[in-house]
Amino acid sequence: MLYSDEIIREVRAQNDIIDVVSTYVPLRMRGGRHWGSCPFHQENTPSFTVNSDTQFFHCFGCGAGGNVITFVMRIEHMDFVDALKLLADRVHFILPQPGDSRAERVKHAEKAKAAEYNKIAARFFHEQLNAQNPFASEAREYLKVRGVNEKVQTLFGLGLSPPGWDNLLRHLTASSTGEAPPTPSDLHKAGLLSMSHKEGNRYYDRFRERLMFPIIDPSKRVVGFGGRIMRESADEAKYLNSPETSLFNKSSQLYALNLARKTRSTELIVVEGYMDVIALFKAGFTNAVGVLGTAITARHVQLLRRNGCATALLLLDSDNAGTAAALKSIPLLLEGGLRVKVLQVPDAKDPDEFLQNYGAERMGKLLANAQSHIVFQIGLTQKKYDMDKTEDRIRFTEEAASLLAPLSSEIETDAYVQETARASHIAPSAIFAEVKKQRDRINADGGQAPLRQSFRNVRKGAEDPGVREARRQLLCLALTHPPAARALADSGCLSPEEMGNDVFSQILALSYQNIFPAPADIVSRFETTEAQQQAAEVFTKPITYSTLLEMEKSLNEMAVIIKRAFIDTQIELCGSKNDLNAVNSLVLSKKNLQSQYITLSNG
Ligand code: CTP
Ligand code: MN
Repeated sequence: MLYSDEIIREVRAQNDIIDVVSTYVPLRMRGGRHWGSCPFHQENTPSFTVNSDTQFFHCFGCGAGGNVITFVMRIEHMDFVDALKLLADRVHFILPQPGDSRAERVKHAEKAKAAEYNKIAARFFHEQLNAQNPFASEAREYLKVRGVNEKVQTLFGLGLSPPGWDNLLRHLTASSTGEAPPTPSDLHKAGLLSMSHKEGNRYYDRFRERLMFPIIDPSKRVVGFGGRIMRESADEAKYLNSPETSLFNKSSQLYALNLARKTRSTELIVVEGYMDVIALFKAGFTNAVGVLGTAITARHVQLLRRNGCATALLLLDSDNAGTAAALKSIPLLLEGGLRVKVLQVPDAKDPDEFLQNYGAERMGKLLANAQSHIVFQIGLTQKKYDMDKTEDRIRFTEEAASLLAPLSSEIETDAYVQETARASHIAPSAIFAEVKKQRDRINADGGQAPLRQSFRNVRKGAEDPGVREARRQLLCLALTHPPAARALADSGCLSPEEMGNDVFSQILALSYQNIFPAPADIVSRFETTEAQQQAAEVFTKPITYSTLLEMEKSLNEMAVIIKRAFIDTQIELCGSKNDLNAVNSLVLSKKNLQSQYITLSNG
């Protein structure tokens, strides 16, 4: 089936070439580029480079080059469509199916058009900001006063919607390319025009006399805008966003994610306002994203995770609305498997004002000291009570205990119990007893499993026989079905490190070179005698599966068992180093194991 340019572009945009190539070829940074040994010809000195900006690879040795799809086609010996499918799968992008309805295809096309019109509009607004007229000068002056220099204006593609009712309408409907220009109705669907029903459905520019912030998604599409008035006014909303369109939904977009993801940072700072994001970038904190005047949703969480975020640092305005927003979003972020830190801006209303008043260095210190969400929640609780009153100290301690009860790490619990004890002047042992009581209640209600079990397992020292058997079975499966092992590793469900087995790593390495030796031949392929022996051992008790589904289930089951054991050893390790943050995130990833599952496809 033929895929539209839009789909192909989307798949390409979501698959960063560095990430994809790195799974086949070890890359090293040198002179602002990634280098490695060319997988397409024999060489001793690396002459294969990958450029993160252009998203192209090139080999100076053999001349091979292209984009991420070309790379997969060559290395996997696939045709275009299969390579596209592989890449789409990799990022859980659902390709349209041949059976998809006409309506579906029309919708795809409508989205592509809306993105195109929004991009032209963004260019128009940007030009208007730089135009020579009094209104544009006023806008530039406004930005200057707010500390937004030209470099930042360009980075964010800031713009200006001029006064008047039809500037954009006229600009967009005047064809310049020879192609048929969009109709006002098309532009209305793209969220750029509003419609007045008064005088027989007249269309007019939705954004007028506003500073324009284009909202660009991770695939670099302009999906919508935020527009800010420049003179405070009682009868106009400060910000006006694009309406909901086929392309834009404010609960599933994060402002500046297109830029922040480039930092490849695993920690993203989440703020409330456009101007906060911009001020942070200007100060050098380029891993910031903004929610668009909404609460954090599950889709935001998914978006964060897909873009490499492991820790969300909520940097909130200092008002109560900010606090309320944080409290609501914490559980969502945790459920999504993210670590959460919360920081409320002190001595200023928002991050932008803080940076204006105190500068980047103090902001840096603030961010570096951001604490876990638990500390934030305990702090809030404490504020409700008067610690000079015995009754209040008791209430506070009970509430704090209820915050600690769901924690799965003993070490973490202990640390926070100590803190709570300091604040309340109540003995840690009493607080701990309260936590335990509440935990027992949770467990009795069929809540989470007792959390200390994992520690006991680890402390036994020798590996649990169940884990050992799971490892053996999985290895056996990998030897007989290398693509299944590969699917497991590629999906991130179980890395070679987590598997912790030499033979497994070698099977993967071979599969990345497209070598799938027959089980009979496989043993001799291993270099060390130890590895050969391990592989041979597995074959003495081979396991067979009668259906693919059976194999799939078994594969997933074993992966979870092994990964859980691996995480337990890591928890133990980090715990012994007193690295509570790491423990916290490990515990979360362990909880998320239940939801990991990969599907094996035929062929
Ligand atoms: N917002 C909105 N509509 C409004 C007000 C706010 O959509 N009428 C959203 C915008 O995304 C805005 C965010 O909520 O960025 C936070 O609002 P606020 O803190 O008032 O704005 P700032 O971004 O701080 O803007 P400024 O500093 O320019 O006042
Ligand atoms: Mn602000």
